[in-house]
Parts: sequence; structure tokens; C-alpha cells
Amino acid sequence: MRRRLISFRVILLLTLTGYIVSCKSPTVEERIDHSFQVAAERYDSLLVAASDLTKYPHSFTLKGEIFYFGIDEWTGGFWPGALWYMYEYTGNQKWKDAALRWTASLESNQYNTKHHDIGFMMFSSYGNGLRITGDTSYKPILIQSAKSLCKRYSPTVGSIQSWNARPSINKQNQWNYPVIMDNMMNLELLFWAAQETGDSNFYKVAVQHAKTTQKNHIRSDFGTFHVVNYDTATGAVLHQQTLQGFSDQSTWARGQAWGIYGFTSTFRFTKDSSFLSTAKGLANFFLRHKNLPADKVPLWDFNVGETGFTPDWNYDSTVYPIIPRDVSAAAIAASALFELSTYCQGDEQQYYKNAATDMIVSLSQEPYLNTKKTNPYFLLNGSVGNFPAGREINVPLIYADYYFLEAMHRYLNSKK
Ligand code: GLY
Repeated sequence: MRRRLISFRVILLLTLTGYIVSCKSPTVEERIDHSFQVAAERYDSLLVAASDLTKYPHSFTLKGEIFYFGIDEWTGGFWPGALWYMYEYTGNQKWKDAALRWTASLESNQYNTKHHDIGFMMFSSYGNGLRITGDTSYKPILIQSAKSLCKRYSPTVGSIQSWNARPSINKQNQWNYPVIMDNMMNLELLFWAAQETGDSNFYKVAVQHAKTTQKNHIRSDFGTFHVVNYDTATGAVLHQQTLQGFSDQSTWARGQAWGIYGFTSTFRFTKDSSFLSTAKGLANFFLRHKNLPADKVPLWDFNVGETGFTPDWNYDSTVYPIIPRDVSAAAIAASALFELSTYCQGDEQQYYKNAATDMIVSLSQEPYLNTKKTNPYFLLNGSVGNFPAGREINVPLIYADYYFLEAMHRYLNSKK
């Protein structure tokens, strides 16, 4: 009897151990591998659906259609960029072939001077292509792209003009020289061009742009203004406002993420400690904000609906009783924090690395990861493009996918 009881207990113990082992939560590496598998399935479909090389997959509409951008709009480089990251992870030639095709489709964009976004477009496509394949025919295209970007630089303002003249929300003000935080993302192209050509003008423009942004876009608590408008004749600051954020005094989550990323990469090229301090200040604002949810995927703006923040547009809190998150902001911030952690030591390094890893873990699961095929084509759900304009709310956005793929690569590189 006693023997039987012991063997029963042993069997029970073995069963329970087996159960616990099988319920063990996946490692970060397993989550990343699963996310790349999901991406492969979605992008197989997207490659078939998006066959016109003049229409760049941007989002998926609530009506159930892929929404495309044209070659001169800001997100064209992210689809080829995502394909390069797929190739880099899998080594599968089909992703390389597609990345080559979509990258080449952007060639004429090297002359685009309509806005500041050429860095986004050309560095995520040609930049990644050059890094991965070493194809030197990409270099003159990137150098011309950097020259085009510099055409929008004013030495009087000390900044690259982001958008052409336009009114602010509700025509409150006229912006003749608007510069947005996002523009920090275009500097990588200029720093690369300076190194490649030896022409220090690219470097000077990038550094001055970063300094001007540091001075005028960042508040004392390291929250940020989305848009700063300058006097073209004197360079004076005329307005500090927002277009895509909740209100002029609030902090738009994606703008903050662009800032962390942009000042971190500016430190990479300059080694100027003031840029590193700025990147850390922006990161700490993001990570320690009282409104950042526990899973570290931010609300689309840190101050939505808060007292003391008055929008210039009609905000009706009943339309979205649950304030939408912006998954793209989390993806961009995660990628940036991995790089930022490499410039820190000890506890501080671990803090940024852990935060970025937490973000990857969040994004690699429902409801953010598109495992249930909420749409057939994109990897992540739940981003916000432009809430005040009522555009792209709770939708997939190609740049959220792109920066998530990049963040996962950066995690894996941090383990090497
Ligand atoms: N650069 C445009 C955006 O972040 O929406």
C-alpha cells in the first residue's frame, strides 16, 4: 500500500513538473522568432497584394483595404526596409529579391525636396540595402538624397525646414518655417554622407539642426513640442505647437519616441555628451511618465484629455472611451532604447535594456501582434497616425512594423 502511494506521488510530481515546463512562458528569443514567423506569413500576402511598385503599402483601412502612399510621401522606404530586415533574419533569398525590387523603385526619390522626409525614405531602404549587401551603387543615390535634404536648410534658422508653409490646426497661426521633432530622424543620412564623402557641410548641417531642436523643442521636464515655427528672416521662434499631438503643451508619444531615437543616433556620430544627456532625458520622461501603461505601450499622447491641456480642435472623449495606444511609438522607442543602452553603463544600461525588452515582449503578443489575422498584411495592430485629423486611429502602420523588426534585431545583437 505504502509503495503504491509513493509511486502515485512520483507520477503526480512528474505530471505536474511536465505541466509547469509546458506552461513556461516563452523566452524573448522564442517570442522574436514567433514574431518573425508571423511577419513572414503577413508579408507573403502583402507581396502578392502589393504588386504595383509605384504604390507603397502604408496602412490598412477600417474598410478592409490596403492604403498606399505614393513615392514622394514619407513612408515609402519602410516597406523595402522591412523586407531587408526579413532577409537579415531569415537569410531567405525571396526577401532579398523583394527588398532589391522595392528599394530600386525609390531611385528617383533622391531628388525629392518637397519635404524633410527623404532621410526616412532613403535610409531605411537604400541605407539598409547598403549595410546588408555592400552594393556600392547605392552610395551615389544616398549622397544625392543627402544633398536634396540640405536644400531645405536655412543657416539663419539653423534648421532643416520640415514642411512647406502651412497653417496650424484650425488656422490659428500661419507657419512659414515649420520644423518638427520627427526631423531628427533624417540626420543619420547626413552623418553617413559626411563620413562617406568627407564633406563636412553635411555634418555641420546635422549638428546645427540637432542643437536648434535641442534648444527649442524640448521643455524643462523633457516633454517635447511637436512643431516649432521660425521667422525666416531672423531665425526667431514664433510658435511652439502641435499638429498630431493632443495640445500645444502636451507631449505627443511618437514625437517623443522620434526624439529619443534621433538624439541617440546623433550622439553615435558626434560623441557630444549633451546629445546623450538629451536622449536620456527624453527616454526618462517617456519611461517614468505617470500615464505610461504597465505594458509600456503609450497612449497616442501622454496628456490626452488631461486638465490643463487645451486642444485647438474638438476633442470628444466619448468617441474613444478607451484612449487608443500608439504601437508605433513603442516600436520606435524600443529600438532607440536598445541603442541608448549601449552608451550607458551598469544599472542605467540595464534599465534602458530592460525597458526596451519589456516593449518587445508586449508587442510580440496579442492584441498588438497580428496573430489572429485581424488583417492579412501587417505585423502589428494598434497604431495612431493623426488623431486630431481623425486619420489612422487603431490601425496597422508600416513604420510600426519596420521599427519593431529593427528593435528585435537590436535585441539579438545585444546578446552577441
Ligand atoms: N513623421 C510623421 C509622423 O510621425 O507621423
